Amino acid sequence: MGRSRKYDLVIMGATGFTGRLTAEYLAVNYGVKNDQFTWAIAGRNKSRLLKLKGHLVRFDPDAGSLPILIAESSDRESLDAMTSQTKVVITTVGPYLKYGADLVVSCAENGTNYCDITGEVLFIRNSIDRNFKTARQNLCRIVHCCGFDSVPSDLGVLFLQDNSQKIYGMPCDHVTLYVRSTKGGFSGGTIDSMLNTRDQLRMDLKLRGLLGNPYALNPKEDPSGPDESDLRSVEWDHRMKCWTGPFVMAGINTRVVRRTNALLNNRYGADFRYSEVLSFPNGAVGWMRANLLLLGMGCFIGAIKFSPSRWLLQNIFLPKPGQGPSRKKRDNGHFHMMIEGTTKNNNALRVSVKGDRDPGYAGTAQMLTESALCMIMNKDELPDRYGVLTPAVAFGDTPIRRLAGKGIEFKHHE
Ligand SMILES: NC(=O)c1ccc[n+]([C@@H]2O[C@H](COP(=O)([O-])OP(=O)(O)OC[C@H]3O[C@@H](n4cnc5c(N)ncnc54)[C@H](OP(=O)(O)O)[C@@H]3O)[C@@H](O)[C@H]2O)c1
Repeated sequence: MGRSRKYDLVIMGATGFTGRLTAEYLAVNYGVKNDQFTWAIAGRNKSRLLKLKGHLVRFDPDAGSLPILIAESSDRESLDAMTSQTKVVITTVGPYLKYGADLVVSCAENGTNYCDITGEVLFIRNSIDRNFKTARQNLCRIVHCCGFDSVPSDLGVLFLQDNSQKIYGMPCDHVTLYVRSTKGGFSGGTIDSMLNTRDQLRMDLKLRGLLGNPYALNPKEDPSGPDESDLRSVEWDHRMKCWTGPFVMAGINTRVVRRTNALLNNRYGADFRYSEVLSFPNGAVGWMRANLLLLGMGCFIGAIKFSPSRWLLQNIFLPKPGQGPSRKKRDNGHFHMMIEGTTKNNNALRVSVKGDRDPGYAGTAQMLTESALCMIMNKDELPDRYGVLTPAVAFGDTPIRRLAGKGIEFKHHE
């Protein structure tokens, strides 16, 4: 990458709900003017970007001097002008399937590092097929899923496996992530991305096969393994002695973790099995809560299939693009995940991943920013891996160290 780039980091989509929180996180924790890196905000609408600068001045008086770049997701020239001026791009422009493809191509071709917070399997599959070789040739890292999908899962499993190697001299070949609790909310952008994926599936039935494939994101030369579909019902877990139910993000997180294993030449084992579930207390109350949640998910999926109920949900009940959980809700949110692994010799290991604010927005802004900063502030410590990567493959355990003491903790339990 040329040394002459004007910025270290640009946040594209800074005017959106999550983009604004990301800019806020940077302004509060690093400042607009710092001696470690330079950054700018980008988007399609100048007056919104100026308004955002006005908002950021509340957190850092220097925000008035924050540079702005104008780029439109379907205008390749404007994207190239942006990606050739910076070493790293963060993008929160979504739905990614709708707006994201050209920016990734522009980064891969211009040798610019890239981080996003997509959870859209179809988008990532296209991105891998289209950009892997170019990004590798141009020595840049294209890293999808740097938010709540899939940093806790991907780095949590890496952390568990590193501990397993140290303690037992071998990886855990059977790993389950239990979501103990989460508290937060949804933004309009997230809802829009979910609905957009549904629409794509309706238009092209073949895509359902891809979404249902547990190895949908694996390299073509390593396309399968022992895992089957994600949990779809309520089941009793004998090992943890709790009720379990489907976790909505398992569909992306498990694919990311399996891709990590494949890109690391089966470091977790060729027989590695991985799943993610919601966990509920044992007893009748836990069983009832698990079934109520399943029923709620079924009703939501049913409601978005029919135009009148979908219209009502979108226009009356759900947040619109640009909207999301209030600051109070974000500050009162949290997440707690427990990852349990067993080795071939039946030795068990547990690690937890906890965050002290809502996972989807405050937590995501933090995970995304600290992931991107690895490529600026820790670049000499990163593995020499390039292409379309997962967070664990691109950054190793560096984000875990960057996040420690900042409210997101990865911990090994004896
Ligand atoms: N992985 C996770 O944990 C996680 C968490 C949160 C969000 N997300 C994902 O992140 C994405 C953003 O969510 P959000 O709630 O922040 O969405 P949002 O508030 O709707 O923001 C979308 C952003 O994209 C920009 N944009 C839209 N069309 C554009 C175009 N043609 N050219 C340039 N910019 C364009 C918007 O610009 P304007 O302001 O000009 O409209 C806005 O800045 C979604 O895909 C969501 O699913 C993932």
